[in-house]
Amino acid sequence: MGRRRLLIVTGKGGVGKTSVTAAAAIAAARSGDRVLVCEMDGSGRLAASFGLGELGFDPTTVSIGAGGEVQIDAMSMDTERALREYIRLFVKIPFVDRVGSLARIFDYVADAAPGVREILAIGKVCHEVRRDNYDLVIVDAEATGHVVSQIDAPRAMSEFVHSGVIAEQTGWMSEILEDPVRTGVVVVTLAEDLPVAETSELIHTISTDTGVAVASVVVNRVPEAGLDPVAVEALRGAESAGVPGAATVVASAARADRAGRVLGDLLDEAGDGVAGAVLPEVEADDEGGIVVALSERIDALVAHLTGEDEARG
Ligand SMILES: Nc1ncnc2c1ncn2[C@@H]1O[C@H](COP(=O)(O)OP(=O)(O)O)[C@@H](O)[C@H]1O
Ligand SMILES: [Mg+2]
Repeated sequence: MGRRRLLIVTGKGGVGKTSVTAAAAIAAARSGDRVLVCEMDGSGRLAASFGLGELGFDPTTVSIGAGGEVQIDAMSMDTERALREYIRLFVKIPFVDRVGSLARIFDYVADAAPGVREILAIGKVCHEVRRDNYDLVIVDAEATGHVVSQIDAPRAMSEFVHSGVIAEQTGWMSEILEDPVRTGVVVVTLAEDLPVAETSELIHTISTDTGVAVASVVVNRVPEAGLDPVAVEALRGAESAGVPGAATVVASAARADRAGRVLGDLLDEAGDGVAGAVLPEVEADDEGGIVVALSERIDALVAHLTGEDEARG
């Protein structure tokens, strides 16, 4: 029993991680979830997706829609702030705010011990899940190269530290991250050779090197052919006869076909119970418009991913 509380969205840079994250957040909020969305890479792109200048560590409530009917809390990760909050909550040192040199100490420690920044970032996210202020936390995670060390940080740390405060902390974090009912990775890709190769490798690495489950594979930016195969065949004839526009339609039908095959292959690699989705190339005037348009196309996937455990296939 239970439901998904944490979605970690990743993929190769530029494939649409941030857009898919923001769209999924809107879809979940529209269905009634209290949603926190967190950008990990500090690029500021998530803010742009919501039409904001910037986001900080303290969540900003974003209103979506003309009447502001959907609200989402959004934040940007800041590991030094996460450390301050952590010390205040768990170590209970009351004078943290007066430790002016914390930043320097932190840099020193973070540079010396691998995984410190990662654990603070993912730890903050897990803390938000455990704290239960939100139904769903969606993370706009690091790209392919860095995401594994981030989601695996608590488990990696626990291999070195077996008892004491740190082991306790990594314990509850891993419990959340490694529970496939509560936590899942959403891997976003384009139906192009390079992203697909990277995605396939990423799915493999996540399943062999971490205890975190892949929940979904999303093929993004697929042109909508919207034509039946017979019409496409007819247009193929028109294309060779040089009819203007036919080539474009035939090409986008071919890309849509390819996206379906790519998704099928990736889902085979990902194993049982992983939900697939193809998202269209949408058109809008700005990032905010793209994300809202996308949110209407990602509804079913989000409902599936956040539904009660028994309902998920
Ligand atoms: N389905 C889509 N349709 C149209 N444009 C998209 C779509 N998904 C992403 N984009 C655009 O592609 C660009 C990169 O997307 P972004 O979400 O920032 O990628 P990432 O976070 O993976 O680097 C953005 O300008 C975004 O608006
Ligand atoms: Mg991004």
